[in-house]
Amino acid sequence: MRLTLHFGVTPSLFCAEVITGDPANNVTDAIFSKLGAKLHTRRDHPICILKDAIHQYFDSRFGAGVFAQLDDLHPLVSTEQNFDQVLVPPDHVSRSPNDTYYVNAHTVLRCHTSAHQVDTLRSGKRAFLITGDVYRRDAIDATHYPVFHQMEGVRVFAPADWAASGQDGTAFAAAELKSTLEGLARHLFGAETEVRWIDAYFPFTEPSFEMEIFFNGAWMEVLGCGVMQQRILDGALGGNPGEHRAWAFGLGLERLAMVLFGIPDIRLFWTSDERFTRQFKAGTFKPGGAGTKFSSFSKYPPCLKDVSFWMPPGDQFTENNMCEVVRSVAGDLVEEVKLMDKFTSPKTGKTSGCYRIVYRSMERSLTDEEINALQTEVRSRMVSQLSVELR
Ligand code: PHE
Repeated sequence: MRLTLHFGVTPSLFCAEVITGDPANNVTDAIFSKLGAKLHTRRDHPICILKDAIHQYFDSRFGAGVFAQLDDLHPLVSTEQNFDQVLVPPDHVSRSPNDTYYVNAHTVLRCHTSAHQVDTLRSGKRAFLITGDVYRRDAIDATHYPVFHQMEGVRVFAPADWAASGQDGTAFAAAELKSTLEGLARHLFGAETEVRWIDAYFPFTEPSFEMEIFFNGAWMEVLGCGVMQQRILDGALGGNPGEHRAWAFGLGLERLAMVLFGIPDIRLFWTSDERFTRQFKAGTFKPGGAGTKFSSFSKYPPCLKDVSFWMPPGDQFTENNMCEVVRSVAGDLVEEVKLMDKFTSPKTGKTSGCYRIVYRSMERSLTDEEINALQTEVRSRMVSQLSVELR
């Protein structure tokens, strides 16, 4: 594949380089149109405001520039970078084309910023924060969107760092990780913020944890993290195996920005409607989002359309595939796709599904004609692309 390189900037892409004729390709026009948007680098965008607030915390805790801040790494990566380098097993669900966007069998749109851990370590950095857009095929609702933003943090320790602590390297790294992230939670949500740790599993860390924050009366999962698998670190650093230790975390920015700033729908991050954009200004962040509370502009009425169908035999039909079809027809006019009913006929063995599609614009009222035209197109593409039989 050929990339067009411009000096000093991310290679720009031609559509034909991402939407290839390759049999493994499952990138749609709707997804292609998001590549290169880089919301996390637009100064006054809420995602960038949150990124800056996190950078500021790391600069003040560790000293300015101690953590390198990277936010221009290209979202197109190899399956090696996205999966193998971070020890994602060959049969892990995230490798499935139902979950990940493939350009071809060896190239994907990164599904997490962990795809850059190893290369960044190899480049010599020992503490860094990487922010980028990540891509996942998923369901459609107010908190899920096929593109979102993550920040990856990594810090490497040498034996001298933990010698005085009386702990082994792994225990030291885990404790330092937790105290760093608890400080981050207080920086973002306020000094009184309650945090709890849940044991978790990630292929690339051991031990692994999830951090939850008590906010607005509920526990909310904020990030995944852990002590980097020694095999990954040793492979990336070269030198004496087992000598260093490292921690890593990965944090989703949309979810945090939504609760901090009171943004009710994930599609709003992509709008250019001034009633949204003018409410956010760089440099206004305060703990708990107090400096940056979004006040909703009027909500337009939703329009509900149901579609019932027989699924083709086998596992050809998936909810993610259906959502992709709906999104490629209706774009950001679709708010939710939800399963209403599903049953298998005992006579024929065929499975029937009924899904409700909720159409709603965040910017204007939609007309009946326009919704009907979208729904007709969705139905016809479900037949041609998903091989369903409409009922
Ligand atoms: N990559 C993980 C995810 O996307 C998050 C993570 C990063 C977890 C680093 C542990 C360490 O869910």
